[in-house]
Amino acid sequence: MAAYTKTVDRGASPAVLAYLVTAVATLLLMMVFGVLMRMEQAELIALGPMWFYQLMTLHGAGMVGIAAIAGAAIMWHFLAQYVALSPRIFLANLGLFLAGVAMILASVIGGHFHGGWTFLHPLPSRSMGMWSPGAAALFMGGLLVIGTGFLLLHLDIARALLARYGGLGRALGWPQLFGRDDGNAPPPTVVASTMVTIVNLVGLVAGASILAMMMVNVYLPSFAIDALLAKNLIYFFGHVFVNATIYMAVIAVYEILPRYTQRPWKANRPFLASWTASTLMVMFIYPHHLLMDFAMPKWMLVMGHVIGYLNTVPILLVTAYGGLMLVYRSGIRWDMASRLLFLSLFGWAAGAMPAFIDGTIGVNYVMHNTMWVPGHFHTYLLLGMITMVFGFMYYIGKPARDGIDAALDRVALWVFAIATLGFTLSFLYSGKASVARRYAAHLPEWVPYDRVAAVFAVLVVAAVLVFATRFLLRLPAASMDAPRTALARGAGA
Ligand code: HEM
Repeated sequence: MAAYTKTVDRGASPAVLAYLVTAVATLLLMMVFGVLMRMEQAELIALGPMWFYQLMTLHGAGMVGIAAIAGAAIMWHFLAQYVALSPRIFLANLGLFLAGVAMILASVIGGHFHGGWTFLHPLPSRSMGMWSPGAAALFMGGLLVIGTGFLLLHLDIARALLARYGGLGRALGWPQLFGRDDGNAPPPTVVASTMVTIVNLVGLVAGASILAMMMVNVYLPSFAIDALLAKNLIYFFGHVFVNATIYMAVIAVYEILPRYTQRPWKANRPFLASWTASTLMVMFIYPHHLLMDFAMPKWMLVMGHVIGYLNTVPILLVTAYGGLMLVYRSGIRWDMASRLLFLSLFGWAAGAMPAFIDGTIGVNYVMHNTMWVPGHFHTYLLLGMITMVFGFMYYIGKPARDGIDAALDRVALWVFAIATLGFTLSFLYSGKASVARRYAAHLPEWVPYDRVAAVFAVLVVAAVLVFATRFLLRLPAASMDAPRTALARGAGA
């Protein structure tokens, strides 16, 4: 086998590190909020429903936000090696994100807004005295500011892709997919970034439109909004935006695993076809969240059902299969980064399965409002997406490529893997037992599941504390000025 000589770029630019520090600090805080919610449901503490829903609103918005910030950091770090991106726009996005977070915190902590991160119409404007119109507007304004930052970021990425490739179709590898494969398809990072940019630009415009309408409605109730249209726009935006986080983070797998195995990750025809197919399908899959809405046109529900099935397969399959083939008999040197990245592929695959099941209309009627759904998305986000981020953090922070990981990190990895599985399986098992989701108070027969979940959740936080501390301690060395080293194995570099 020909040696794969790509150099290892240890470290990252200060801006990428600032993104990661923001993400990891917020992640820990939001995890603590998650533990508090689980402890409340387990009747181990007594916060009361008001605090539960405030924490749930912050946890949902915060987690989705940091997943996007961390995913964007990974995408930007690698994409900047292929196309000319603007560091100023990248920093502006972080600035707008922090401003939006401040607005959301003020709305929830100061103004007691607790309508959920999904801000479903007409809840924000009909609080029945629980929060003021100002608090609702501040929350939605915060989301709008965060969305504006991401819109700018994706516009800049689109500009850079167009400048380098001359068209988004070319950046998706269409000439090689539909014409003769000359072997010059864009690298996986470019293909993935193009897909994310297309779907997020559409999703963000939809999200901004409904947020703007709802902010007017808060102060001017006569400005009526069609509730079904509002729900569709919100779920379209929310689902696309959350999905995109894993499509950004998986770039770490495409870029880093090959450097360990000395085998390139090729953008071959199945790879290009699956990314093109998902570019379309990700935008049409969201109706599986509306299968219980009788007012929805039937054809949209059928579409959600069918595309829900189809979209589970392409990218996940090519990535999981590609990952296995890359590692198989490669003599890979396992360390924290490569282990976490490999684990993340399992987490993504495992987390997609409950969604696949829930996307079946007959099952959805019974399962969708139960803990089954948090079970699905916590598996694919925590054991998939966020685990990719941890892998990236260990990778750029590692002082010496051949260095041995500390025993504490290795123990933390095992604790993380087992506790995350325990935590997410508790959600799924509760869902199977029909435990309702988004309830602050649980029936006595639900409480044992909650207690088991709370113990696992504390262990998850403990493990993540180790990952985060290690990353923060290595920050000075992780600055981009650190010398670039080549992977010592295989290529003999
Ligand atoms: C220690 C880790 C975590 C704990 C203990 C935790 C706990 C929880 C709990 C108790 C809920 C409410 C479930 C319900 O009754 O419906 C929840 C909801 C949620 N979590 Fe987590 N979580 C954790 C990590 C994460 C991560 C890493 C993400 C995403 C990156 C995430 C995203 C969400 C979202 C989007 C919701 C939905 C909020 C809503 O229904 O409005 N969580 N989490």
